[in-house]
Amino acid sequence: MSKKILVTGGAGYIGSHVVKLLSERGYEPIVLDNLSSGHREAVLGARLIQGDLRDKVFLKNFFEAEKPVAVMHFAAYIVVPESVAAPLKYYENNLAATVNLLQASVENKVSAFIFSSSAAVYGIPEKVPIPEEHSVSPINPYGASKAMVEAMLADCHNAYGLPYVSLRYFNASGADPSGLIGEAHEPETHLIPLLLQTALGKRDKFYLFGTDYPTPDGTCIRDFIHVNDLAEVHILALEYLLDKGESLTLNCGYGHGYSVKEVLEETRRITKRDIPYEVKERRPGDPPVLVAESEKIKKVFAFSPGFDDLTRIIETAWKWELNRRY
Ligand code: UFG
Repeated sequence: MSKKILVTGGAGYIGSHVVKLLSERGYEPIVLDNLSSGHREAVLGARLIQGDLRDKVFLKNFFEAEKPVAVMHFAAYIVVPESVAAPLKYYENNLAATVNLLQASVENKVSAFIFSSSAAVYGIPEKVPIPEEHSVSPINPYGASKAMVEAMLADCHNAYGLPYVSLRYFNASGADPSGLIGEAHEPETHLIPLLLQTALGKRDKFYLFGTDYPTPDGTCIRDFIHVNDLAEVHILALEYLLDKGESLTLNCGYGHGYSVKEVLEETRRITKRDIPYEVKERRPGDPPVLVAESEKIKKVFAFSPGFDDLTRIIETAWKWELNRRY
């Protein structure tokens, strides 16, 4: 019998890519999503149950009925400036809902809990590439909510033996090469989809936030990791925990980055379209450089990236953007 994996937020960008891969690898993903930002059409190869993690009774019934062996927890709000303006919205959804999910996971003795954390837990890094041992000092409620869940995971591990892996994503990007699923946030705030939508003429221009950073071309540098590599990492984390690996926290990045200007130029080259842009003030809270130290994940999981290539990242995102299904 295939193993049931509860995937919260499985109708969202990263979750949907993981769900597709889980089902291709013979697992039985069950998506739990309230569809506040996810898309029904993004769920391929899995059952979708519409429900909310804030509903304890619903969660209890779900676990009793389905008995998942593992939980992958993607469901969260992700817009940094919104988290500054409406912190309680973020703490309620990203933190309080996770308390309920952890409670149900512990009561039902799940064998693996895999959490979507973020490079945002590091705040403005003192050292780049950023090692996992770097201090955790988020500078906004979004990052704080991720850091607090990590603290809860460590406590649940100590108190109840909950086996977990926390994955600190750097910049998730790209789309499944099939073109069937991809990034579809509303509102969209991420660099590559905004550039592609400008190339398509869906937006008048692209606003480049800051050209006076202490980087070679003055624009921010990010570690863009293809979403299919992130999906692979989740499968590796799952297998690692099901094989009784130790709980741990890992960076998910390639260990090198590209500047916003480099991404803009590469997007122009691939799309063969003009991308008008205007330089704006720096966006508050953007660190100049966010690049992962990526040795640990390669070593512990024997992870070897399949998409470590900016061209491939933009090409797959472009294929999706040209023919979006949702
Ligand atoms: N950028 C622009 N113009 C835009 C959008 C982005 O110039 O319209 C720049 C940003 O200033 C930044 C870079 O492009 O320098 C990347 O921005 P994204 O919003 O795509 O990604 P972030 O690095 O800000 O965000 C990522 C994750 C978030 C997470 C954050 C933590 O996507 O979920 O890292 O720092 F919260």
